[in-house]
Amino acid sequence: MTRAVEIIAGDFHSVDRIMPVMQSAFDPAFGEAWTAEQCRGLLCLPGTVLRLAVSGEDVLGFALVRSVLDEAELLLIATAASQQRKGIGQLLLHSVFYWCHQNGVKRVILEVRSGNVAVELYTKMGFTQIGRRENYYRGLDNNQFDALTLQRNL
Ligand SMILES: CC(C)(COP(=O)(O)OP(=O)(O)OC[C@H]1O[C@@H](n2cnc3c(N)ncnc32)[C@H](O)[C@@H]1OP(=O)(O)O)[C@@H](O)C(=O)NCCC(=O)NCCS
Repeated sequence: MTRAVEIIAGDFHSVDRIMPVMQSAFDPAFGEAWTAEQCRGLLCLPGTVLRLAVSGEDVLGFALVRSVLDEAELLLIATAASQQRKGIGQLLLHSVFYWCHQNGVKRVILEVRSGNVAVELYTKMGFTQIGRRENYYRGLDNNQFDALTLQRNL
C-alpha cells in the first residue's frame, strides 16, 4: 500500500527522529552523514530550517537548510534507503523553495560530491552548476572526489 507522505517543520527537538534516516541514507564510504550533535549545533543558529517528510509517526526523509539574508544553502537532504525513488526528495525541495519564497530568499546554493546521485535530483529540480572544486572530498578509502557547486534562482 502506498503511504501518504506530508512535509512538516522540524526543529532542534526533531534531531533524534532524523538520525535513523541519516544512518540508512548516507553511504558510510564517504563519511558524509552528520552526527546528532552537529545537527543540534546548527539548529541552534538563527536562519536554519529543518523539513521532515513523515508518514504518520515515521520520518522518511529530511532537508536541512541555512539561510543568510537572501541566500540559502541546502546543507543536507536524505531519504531513508527503503523509501527512495518515490518522490520524497522532490517534495522536500518543493517545501524548501516555498519556505525560501516566504522568507525573501532569492537563491539556493549547495555543494555536492561529483558522482552522487543527488546531482540527478538537483538537476531535475532546476539547479545548475556554477563551480567545481577539484579533489575537495576524500572517501574513507582515500579516493578523492570533486565538489560541485550548484545554484537555483527562485
Ligand atoms: C538524493 C536523495 C535525497 C534523493 O531522494 P529520493 O527521495 O530518492 O528522490 P526522488 O524520489 O524525489 O527523486 C527525484 C528524481 O531525482 C532523480 N534521482 C533520484 N535518485 C536517483 C538515483 N538513485 N539515480 C538516478 N536518478 C535519481 C530522478 O530524476 C528522480 O526522478 P524519477 O524517480 O522520476 O526518475 C537520496 O538518494 C538520498 O538520500 N541519498 C543519500 C543522501 C545524500 O547523498 N544526499 C545528498 C547530499 S546531502
